[in-house]
Amino acid sequence: MAGSPASLSGQDVGSFAYLTIKDRIPQILTKAIDTLHRHKNEFFEKHGEKGTEAEKKAISLLSKLRNELQTDKPIIPFVEKFVDTDIWNQYLEYQQSLINENDGKPRWFYSPWLFVECYMYRRIHEAIIQSPPIDDFDVFKESKEQNFFESQESLIALCTHLQELRTTIEDLDENQLKDEFFKLLQISLWGNKCDLSLSGGETSSQRTNIINSVEELKPFILVNDMEHLWSLLNNCKKTREKASVTRVDVVLDNSGFELVTDLVLADFLLCSQLATEIHFYGKTIPWFVSDTTVHDFNWLIEQMKGSNHKWMSKCGADWENSIKMGRWVYHDHIFWTLPHEFCVMSQVAPDLYAELQKAHLILFKGDLNYRKLTGDRKWACTIPFRQALRGFHPAPLCSVRTLKAEVQVGLQPGQAEQLAASEPNWMTTGKYGIFQFDGPL
Ligand code: F6P
Ligand code: MG
Repeated sequence: MAGSPASLSGQDVGSFAYLTIKDRIPQILTKAIDTLHRHKNEFFEKHGEKGTEAEKKAISLLSKLRNELQTDKPIIPFVEKFVDTDIWNQYLEYQQSLINENDGKPRWFYSPWLFVECYMYRRIHEAIIQSPPIDDFDVFKESKEQNFFESQESLIALCTHLQELRTTIEDLDENQLKDEFFKLLQISLWGNKCDLSLSGGETSSQRTNIINSVEELKPFILVNDMEHLWSLLNNCKKTREKASVTRVDVVLDNSGFELVTDLVLADFLLCSQLATEIHFYGKTIPWFVSDTTVHDFNWLIEQMKGSNHKWMSKCGADWENSIKMGRWVYHDHIFWTLPHEFCVMSQVAPDLYAELQKAHLILFKGDLNYRKLTGDRKWACTIPFRQALRGFHPAPLCSVRTLKAEVQVGLQPGQAEQLAASEPNWMTTGKYGIFQFDGPL
């Protein structure tokens, strides 16, 4: 789009994009291959020889993919028919059209990082769907489940906190309610540290009680628009007519620990009456290792319900009920696993854009959503968030994200320089976080 800076890309040797494509993505592919290999017996028991053949086929397709990446081969079109194949291949052509020198082709280290990284996950999916009967296998499922189990202690503390809060919520005054809202927002923010793509699919769970860390972590919030979120929702609560709706939409990120923090926040929003309906958006295919699919969402609630911890199991049961009653609604849409920046959503996925327009507030969880909100471009750190959104305003929105990519806008003059002086990698370690709001103030 005219007037926008260039995209982050692997062309910039030494950048985080470069290191991701060079090191972390091959590592994730190797881990996926290894996972398939380890499930060999299971495939055989389930499907006989056909299962073994399918496992071999998927492994050979993934090995080929890893080789294409490591030798910086051209990005090739998708061949297997799937709901989004045509859109993807059109996007590849569009990327091709941007390269006019010597009939160059989009390549791993040359093309925009956002595009090639999304492409990689979509190719993993292609390798799996080309290998029936194991075509519904999620190569990342084990890691997601492990993250959930390893975070048990912290999750129990969180569920206990929520259940205690629920018993006293009626007695809280406005300030106390606001404090609780801020606390649960921050827990959901720091829950975003626990994604598995940054760690190359290795474990990244929450082992300590997050509730105790919230105060200490406050200085690491670089943009803090929590007050705007409070005013918006508290105002909705006060002015809402009987039987009318305040809807908060949450564009989910990672399953496991982070998802529980999001669901705890959602539960609080309803029981505090700051909202009356919560809509969640997940991914239709396994994505960026730990992103939430409908299977992960249902699996996690089921696990919690079956937990032998009283409060965890109560959370699971309550949440299942919220879904049954339609106060929680889960959606998925192929747009979330396309490579497009959100500013083109109204053209590429007008139905999804229209759905989001029904929200009073949209929370975008995580780093990848931020990259798509801002187009993953080399913006100056001080340009306003609104400018980087380039017309994407379905409803008031807020990014709740820990920084794991070299894009950040809306900082104060000098803020980025100061951080860089003491910590050169401040943008990519997940140590810092933001609540960045866009909407009428
Ligand atoms: O591969 C690394 C990375 O792509 C980050 O740079 C990225 O945006 C992140 O993975 C996923 O993070 P999140 O789960 O917060 O979206
Ligand atoms: Mg993620």
